[in-house]
Amino acid sequence: MAVVAIYSVKGGVGKTTLAANLAWCSATISCRHTLLWDLDAAGGAGFLLGIDPREKRKAESVFARDKEPEKLVRKTSYPRLDLLPADESIRELDNQLVQLGKRKRLAKLASTLSKDYERIILDCPPVLNEVSAQVMRAADLVIVPLPPSPLSARAFELVAEEVAAHASPHPPILPVLSMLDMRRRLHREARDENPNWPAIPLASAVEQCAVRRMPVGAFAPRSPGARAFQHLWTAIERKLASRKG
Ligand SMILES: Nc1ncnc2c1ncn2[C@@H]1O[C@H](COP(=O)(O)OP(=O)(O)O)[C@@H](O)[C@H]1O
Ligand SMILES: [Mg+2]
Repeated sequence: MAVVAIYSVKGGVGKTTLAANLAWCSATISCRHTLLWDLDAAGGAGFLLGIDPREKRKAESVFARDKEPEKLVRKTSYPRLDLLPADESIRELDNQLVQLGKRKRLAKLASTLSKDYERIILDCPPVLNEVSAQVMRAADLVIVPLPPSPLSARAFELVAEEVAAHASPHPPILPVLSMLDMRRRLHREARDENPNWPAIPLASAVEQCAVRRMPVGAFAPRSPGARAFQHLWTAIERKLASRKG
């Protein structure tokens, strides 16, 4: 089992889009039993997979001491792909984790879930708090989407420092240029400065995920966006395979 976190301190950089599309690649291309775990109160990950929040459902925190996480999991319409949705209680998650005083609560839950899933993808909120610290302790790999800019290398270093501060040994971190638009000079420069970083193109097909509420691979499998996610997922699987030497 491996836990892959999609994390950034910034919002609107493509985390949820990456998380939903990579989870789909894991389930569909790698044929792995995959759980997309939404840790963001905005709840966008389920939305992108076509899942609506249950109406008037009481906030039931998966982090509560006696809760079995399997009970909150929902099936998606894609084989092997399930969702652990965010609910109202997730707004209180930071406090809840601090009060619990268990530094590895998230990692523990992930390992409980590993009997059913080979890959767990975490769609993280853009925060620097106990939630992100727990994510770093649970993750085998951290994917950091970065908008292309001359500052992206610096932004990446900041996240790397944050990751190193909370987990020892800390998980490897993979920067990804997100929403890359080669028509723009600054984007081309960011690309040239970091030629080894994977990139996801700025593409209307990717934007359409939120309209169709489907991963791009499910409705435009040959589009450059779908190919970029597939390519990135293959790179992630390679990284995970080399993990234990
Ligand atoms: N590669 C892309 N091309 C075009 N639009 C994108 C791309 N990635 C994300 N978006 C759009 O950018 C917005 C923010 O993306 P989102 O995944 O919600 O970011 P975050 O989770 O980091 O806040 C959304 O409207 C999404 O549809
Ligand atoms: Mg998001």
